[in-house]
Amino acid sequence: MTFQTRRIGVLTGGGDCPGLNGVIRAVTKTAQNEHGASVIGIEDGFEGLVEGRMRELSHQEVSGILGLGGTILGSSSKGDPWHYPVEVAQGRIETQDLSYRALRNVERWGLDALIAIGGDGTMHIARRMMEAGVNVIGVPKTIDNDVPGTDVTFGFDTATTVVCGAIDRLATTASSHHRVMVVEVMGRYAGWIALMGGIAGGADVILIPEIPFSWAPVFDKVHERQSLHKRFTIVCVAEGARLPDGSEVVAGLDAKRTDPKRLGGIGAVVAKAIEAGTGHETRATVLGHLQRGGAPTVADRVLATGFGAAAAHCAARGEFGVMVAVRDGTIRPVPIAEATAAQRLVAPDHHLVAAARSVGTCFGDR
Ligand code: F6P
Repeated sequence: MTFQTRRIGVLTGGGDCPGLNGVIRAVTKTAQNEHGASVIGIEDGFEGLVEGRMRELSHQEVSGILGLGGTILGSSSKGDPWHYPVEVAQGRIETQDLSYRALRNVERWGLDALIAIGGDGTMHIARRMMEAGVNVIGVPKTIDNDVPGTDVTFGFDTATTVVCGAIDRLATTASSHHRVMVVEVMGRYAGWIALMGGIAGGADVILIPEIPFSWAPVFDKVHERQSLHKRFTIVCVAEGARLPDGSEVVAGLDAKRTDPKRLGGIGAVVAKAIEAGTGHETRATVLGHLQRGGAPTVADRVLATGFGAAAAHCAARGEFGVMVAVRDGTIRPVPIAEATAAQRLVAPDHHLVAAARSVGTCFGDR
């Protein structure tokens, strides 16, 4: 190795997603096989870095995990070292700056590089670590596909495959009972999962945060299908879509999380409104964490392997302050600053929104 990178730390931060183990495997095997470096697995994201919970990953430990969902290291959405949640009294959470502990552990464990696998929250923390002098490399993950700087994140293909499969199933029972089926999908403030999963499943209505909707076009779509003797309707709604009055539907708040807001519940609200507004029997299904669990698809396994190998090569070359990304069909490093720019949302005039409209999909705006 030209740059003396002997020990590489790796962590998985934020919500898990299928493909994380593929990255851990590729980082470890590439570092060991090609660069003679060792890899230290940090447990539960930045939490483990603050608390000094880590272990060396052996070749054996990362063997046979490519098709395994979740992360063998554990993950957490609550470990921002600069805003670390500490229970100061029973039930009273205060955030404290414990970044010095994380930085001390980087030194104690002799980490020449730190590979942070995560979404936008993790990339923000990685950037701060970089500014504090840590040799950081980011790997973008999330089912939401909303990390700026990369055309795609792994986990997204698996999640949309789950959504498509669910819509296929809901369509058969909807058809038997002549019902409206509302399926609520994840994605936080981005509509990528609803858009792609909805298109793949042939949803009649897709509601996403980026395109404000009102009730009348949604009700009209249900009536239109009825008049065409297509006696069921599938509505795919993103958890972050805003109701016509502009409000979000929030499932709860958790002060310990990097983003305290937990979205969820819009499916039931939409179903109730459609039933009341059209007189048609309507049911809601929330796909929830089914979208994040289980084995990664082929596309996500391949992307995870490509990202992991690329990140290990960056570490070996001493190329830091970057995130590996997909650009124009190839994997390459981009400045981590790009990954912390504004969230990557669906442009309302995205060509796939246009394609969906062309086949008759309603976005509730017209
Ligand atoms: O960011 C991934 C994601 O699954 C979002 O789509 C969703 O809003 C959130 O995480 C759910 O988080 P949690 O698993 O902490 O409830």
